[in-house]
Amino acid sequence: MIWNSRDDILVGLDVGTQNTKIVVAEVRDDGLLNLIGYSKVDTFGILKGEVHHHENVVESIHRAVLEAEKTVDGLEINRVEVGLTGRNIASFNNVGSIPIVSEDREITHTDIADVIANAKVASLPQGHSAIHTIRQLFKVDDREGVLDPVGLLGSRLEVGVHIVHGMNTSLQNSIRCVLAEEIEVSHSVFSGLASALANLAPQHKQQGAVLLDIGAGITEFVVYAKGTIRCTGVVALGGNNVANDLSVALKIPFNRAEKLKVEHVNLAPDAARPVETVVLRTGEFGLQEKSFALGDIQTVARARFEELFRLVLARIEEQKLTDYIGAGVFITGGVSRTPGLNHLAESIFEMPVTTPIAHGVDGAQDPQLQPEFSTAIGLVKYAYQTRSEFSGKRQRGLLGRIFGK
Ligand SMILES: Nc1ncnc2c1ncn2[C@@H]1O[C@H](COP(=O)(O)OP(=O)(O)OP(=O)(O)O)[C@@H](O)[C@H]1O
Ligand SMILES: [Mg+2]
Repeated sequence: MIWNSRDDILVGLDVGTQNTKIVVAEVRDDGLLNLIGYSKVDTFGILKGEVHHHENVVESIHRAVLEAEKTVDGLEINRVEVGLTGRNIASFNNVGSIPIVSEDREITHTDIADVIANAKVASLPQGHSAIHTIRQLFKVDDREGVLDPVGLLGSRLEVGVHIVHGMNTSLQNSIRCVLAEEIEVSHSVFSGLASALANLAPQHKQQGAVLLDIGAGITEFVVYAKGTIRCTGVVALGGNNVANDLSVALKIPFNRAEKLKVEHVNLAPDAARPVETVVLRTGEFGLQEKSFALGDIQTVARARFEELFRLVLARIEEQKLTDYIGAGVFITGGVSRTPGLNHLAESIFEMPVTTPIAHGVDGAQDPQLQPEFSTAIGLVKYAYQTRSEFSGKRQRGLLGRIFGK
């Protein structure tokens, strides 16, 4: 029997609006992560990333766990890393500042801990708790952009932090669904951060990058500039909105519109030949035979995706980050399979747009796991890196060192 309380087995659980995904990874002797199992089942009870029906979500987790256990001989999952998301999640940047009081003015690890503690003192909206406090760059007196000030001389030390927070009740609703299955929650991580961790390489973060994870119900985004996280958030739009728009515009049931979307939406500029039609056969979902102009389908889908990209762009512009994004936009999540989506995104963001491949977990590059498993893959990476930080000699700036690279 392999219990995953064994230290070398990590399990990432991502309860998405449409699919619940699990990734099981083993820490190899050489210290790298190896994917040894996974599962993906339909989710019930989640609306726009948040729990709306406790029992149904518990049942979805139950099925995903059973399926994942079947893929690894003798595995019994009793501890997981969980993704948190939904409209309740928000973020902001804050600054901490302390004087260096030692006689020699040399900045020490204790000063770093103190200034980060100072930056964490921020008032959150009522009923919210911080999920992550991610270190950005330091400032020593007038010198900005310092990555590691230990050993430098200075009289004043400042640090920026990015605080991701969420509504307590909403966060607890997610955790309680896992606990109801008698599974321990090892870490809980904003799903967007997990996706970014899975997909962005250090050089992308350094050059500046935007990661979008577009799922069925919501889109998470994370913006890196100069190697650190500057902006994160959730937009309450995803693939379901497009299916819903098609369902209303074409007067067909949602399930049929969802299928139509996956089979026919193509946002490449040459895809919408207006003369072509799609025919839905008689009797399918109880419909009479219906035919639709392909051009109309593309127009409906294009409008919704444009809206989504413009909402994210507005958040980036609000933070004045546009000029800092050299590596461009990386789009993951199930919706990133949509043909031509990157082309449309490029025209809105006016930046290069790429579909990334998760890295850092051997075996996770399997096309079956891309791109829906980004969050789950990122969760095991997060757990692994966090643990390595703890077992390492220097323990300062934990989350900052994970995400700040
Ligand atoms: N081949 C495809 N073409 C277009 N869209 C696709 C394709 N395959 C899946 N999708 C869409 O991807 C979405 C599901 O992706 P994903 O599993 O990442 O979402 P989720 O994690 O369950 O939802 P969320 O992150 O919003 O909570 C659905 O909207 C689905 O229609
Ligand atoms: Mg998702």
